[in-house]
Amino acid sequence: MRKDLGALPAVFPMPVLMVGTYGEDGKVNVMNVAWGGIAGMDKVVLYLAKDRKTLKNIRAKKAFTVALADEAHIKEADFLGTASGNTMPDKFAKTGLHAVKSSKVDAPIIEEFPLTMECELAEDAEMFGEIRIVGTIVNVNVDEKVLDENGKVDASKLNAVMFDQFRFGYYKVGEKFAQAWNVGKDLMK
Ligand SMILES: Cc1cc2nc3c(=O)[nH]c(=O)nc-3n(C[C@H](O)[C@H](O)[C@H](O)COP(=O)(O)O)c2cc1C
Repeated sequence: MRKDLGALPAVFPMPVLMVGTYGEDGKVNVMNVAWGGIAGMDKVVLYLAKDRKTLKNIRAKKAFTVALADEAHIKEADFLGTASGNTMPDKFAKTGLHAVKSSKVDAPIIEEFPLTMECELAEDAEMFGEIRIVGTIVNVNVDEKVLDENGKVDASKLNAVMFDQFRFGYYKVGEKFAQAWNVGKDLMK
């Protein structure tokens, strides 16, 4: 038996992206974004509500960073999606996390998150009442502990988390169980 649930953004998993920016005053802000992802090979897309402090900061600095939230910092990641820099100027300081300036763009890298994309603003457009921000990834900065012996990111070492918009859960990433562009190749015969 199947059932219709109506119109829902029914994709699972959604990412837990930590978007880092500087305000005009130089203050670090970080925001939790699940409505976002990758476009093409070098672009990040974020869908932001118009009132986000993060949006003001991106417009001021034309840059932002996107880190992948990890299990160890889920409490901080959730808080960064609850509090706003508009009303809580010391929002980032409250987390106890540490930021350093990116050497590539005018935005902060949060040291505790193992992988960060450093982005330049490429597009700022209104779409269905929200703002679509596209960033060009100019560099990916990682903690060496998440690299394999060939210098590639080992996804299993990221301890990245996923968001479930059906019941607002955070999920751990499971184990790798198959190789892409490979496990289905027998069906090509
Ligand atoms: C799991 C989760 C995902 C979220 N995803 C988005 C999103 O994709 N876009 C958005 O505008 N707000 C999203 N939010 C809400 C913002 O993170 C929240 O409003 C935050 O306070 C904005 O911070 P800022 O005003 O300091 O930029 C999300 C919150 C949570 C907890």
